[in-house]
Amino acid sequence: MDKPKIVLGVSGGIAAYKACELLRRLTESGHDVRVVPTESALHFVGEATWSALSGHPAVTQVWETVHEVPHVRIGQQADLVVVAPATADMLAKAAHGLADDLLTNTLLTARCPVVFAPAMHTEMWENAATQENVATLRRRGAVVLEPAVGRLTGVDTGKGRFPEPGEIFEVCRRVLARGAQAPDLAGRHVVVSAGGTREPLDPVRYLGNRSSGKQGYALARTAVARGARVTLVAANSELPDPAGVDVVHVGTAVQLREAVLKAAADADAVVMAAAVADFRPARYAEGKIKKRDGQEPEPVALVRNPDVLAELSADRARPGQIVVGFAAETDDVLANGRAKLARKGCDLLVVNEVGERRTFGSEENEAVVLAPDGTETPVPHGPKEALADTVWDLVSPCLT
Ligand code: CTP
Repeated sequence: MDKPKIVLGVSGGIAAYKACELLRRLTESGHDVRVVPTESALHFVGEATWSALSGHPAVTQVWETVHEVPHVRIGQQADLVVVAPATADMLAKAAHGLADDLLTNTLLTARCPVVFAPAMHTEMWENAATQENVATLRRRGAVVLEPAVGRLTGVDTGKGRFPEPGEIFEVCRRVLARGAQAPDLAGRHVVVSAGGTREPLDPVRYLGNRSSGKQGYALARTAVARGARVTLVAANSELPDPAGVDVVHVGTAVQLREAVLKAAADADAVVMAAAVADFRPARYAEGKIKKRDGQEPEPVALVRNPDVLAELSADRARPGQIVVGFAAETDDVLANGRAKLARKGCDLLVVNEVGERRTFGSEENEAVVLAPDGTETPVPHGPKEALADTVWDLVSPCLT
């Protein structure tokens, strides 16, 4: 079988040097990669590097090897085009259909999925022109990754950093695996909560749970590959931030509620995969709680936390918003799940059985997705990304 053909477009930003690592990963994993740098990209990394790493000449203009009509062929034959880094200028050209070099021509002729990994200074990313160009590209079905937050060129920090090449590679792998399937979440904003909340007792102790965050992170990653803008509200997960996702880190249930409600204001769907503590200590001790010889410990009084899922379901931030809950059950799994679906008022409930050795921290999951009309969608034991894709398969046709 022919190797999948990838075009790596590189535009003129300092992160071009990191694209070398992406290129290496793509070629080493068995892809046939042609690098199409812009003229400005060559100021950062030269033609020799791209040619040596890809095994093909790296061509910038449409005037070389004209008899092969490269400005049409390269885009037509590609299985995936990834532009990394994508500068503000490149996003603008792509959004407006300009075609003044080989890369912009290739973007116009490509019939395959296109991924942009923007990298620029925060001001340029937040500029209304850039934001509108990004929205246009997403609406048309391109996967535009949210830049990471962190150190930028020079001493600045902020949003605009090029995501880790390994994470961009994973996005490419997922997008390629979807083949000809349309990016059904293109132009959508989805919110996912993940991890487990921690409710502090004193400055060093908390009540927590065993959630690793893996299922929620899988939901965020798969939504990116399906074209969505994704906000991930992550409670105490040690997993690395997935590429292309806006990550809001929180600690407690109250903080999670605030972050989820804020992000949900313009969201098409909210998936509550986080394990939210139902109770928190009634009192927070400012100093460490000390044991005293001869004295019994004080009992810990608890108060109820807000039920975020029930609140989201009862009071939809926008008409047609889809709300999905998760239920972790140890006994009477389906009966408890059905009762919980009715009680919470959400549109779908993903029910899974949990226990000491099941689900928590594992790479795999098994579940049944319940809908209010009585439909049950069983998801066999498998990777958490497969369950995540089933959730999006069920959510996507309901979006209005
Ligand atoms: N959830 C929430 N806010 C809470 C508790 C839970 O939003 N305070 C959400 C979880 O994110 C999950 C769903 O509700 O999507 C189910 O959580 P679960 O803890 O299994 O249900 P409970 O409401 O705690 O019901 P029970 O205690 O009866 O198991």
